[in-house]
Amino acid sequence: MTKDILTLLELSKEEMDKLFQRAIELKRRHKQGIRENSLSGKTLGLLFDKASTRTRISFEAAMVQMGGVPTFISAKDTQIARNEPIKDTARVMSRYLDALVIRTYSQSMVEEFATWSSIPIINGLTDLYHPCQVLSDIMTVIECKGGYEGLNIAWVGDGNNVAHSWINAASILGFNLTLACPEGYLPEKEIVESGKWKVESGKSGTIRVITDPVEAVKDADVINTDVWASMGQESESESRKKIFAPYQVNAALMAKAHQDAIVMHCLPAHREEEITDEVMEGSHSVVWNQAENKLHLHKALLETLILR
Ligand code: CP
Ligand code: NVA
Repeated sequence: MTKDILTLLELSKEEMDKLFQRAIELKRRHKQGIRENSLSGKTLGLLFDKASTRTRISFEAAMVQMGGVPTFISAKDTQIARNEPIKDTARVMSRYLDALVIRTYSQSMVEEFATWSSIPIINGLTDLYHPCQVLSDIMTVIECKGGYEGLNIAWVGDGNNVAHSWINAASILGFNLTLACPEGYLPEKEIVESGKWKVESGKSGTIRVITDPVEAVKDADVINTDVWASMGQESESESRKKIFAPYQVNAALMAKAHQDAIVMHCLPAHREEEITDEVMEGSHSVVWNQAENKLHLHKALLETLILR
C-alpha cells in the first residue's frame, strides 16, 4: 500500500476495491452501534488552507469514531504562513502525528510535503485533484448500482479538480466516463491523455471529453456535477454563470437521462446554478448519502494508511 494519497493514481484497482468493501463494512457496523478502536493512540492532523465543511468534519469524526484523535490546523495560523519551508514543517509534523490531511491550493505543495514526511499525507483537495471525494463517491455508486463495472458515468460542468479525480479513477477502475464541459473549461489535457492511455492499455472502460451535456447524460447511469467556480475562482463567478448556463443539471436535462439515473454532487451546491433545487431534492438525487459516505470511506482510508 502506498504511503500517501496525492492523486488516486497511487492505488491499484484491488486496493480501491478493498477500501470500498471495508468502508461498506464499517458503515454497516456503525449503523449497528459497534464501536471501533483500531486507531486508538493515533493522531491525525488536518492542515487546511481553504474552507471545508464535509471533508474536515468527516475526517475528524472518522478519527474519533476509530478511537484516535484529530487535530485541526489552520494553515494561516502556522509558521508556514510566515515562510517556514515545507520541508522543515513536514519533518517536524511527522514527529507529532500519525497522518496528515492537507487542503490547499497547490498540488506541488502537497507533493513536497509527502516527499519530506515519514507519515501518510492525504490530499483533502487541491486546485488539481480531490481524490478522497471520488473514492467516497464511487462507494455511493456501488451502493446504488451494485458495482461500477460497465457503468456509464457522466460529468456535466467544469473540468475541475473533482473531474480530474474522476478521470484518474476511471483509468484505474475501467468504467465509462463522459465529461461534458464548455470549451475553455475542459479538464487538463495531460490528465485526460494519460487517463486514456491507461484505459487503452487496460481491460475495459472509456474516457471521453465532449461539449454537449445532453450527449453525456443520455446513456448515463450516474450524473455528476459540481460548482461552476471553485474555491480560488470567486472573481470569475459572474462570467462563468453565462458560459455554464447550458450545463445546468435541471428537469429538462434529466428528461434526456435514464429513469434510474442517479444524480451526484460533492457539495457545497449552488442551487439554480449548476443544479436546480428541484433536481437536488428530487428522486434521482443521492447527495445526502454521498456526503455521509465520506465518513465511512475516510475511516477505511485512515485505517489502511495509518496501520499499513
Ligand atoms: N465535498 C467537499 O469536499 O466538501 P467540503 O468543501 O465541505 O469539505
Ligand atoms: N470544485 C470545488 C469542490 C469543493 C468540494 C472546489 O474546489 O471548490
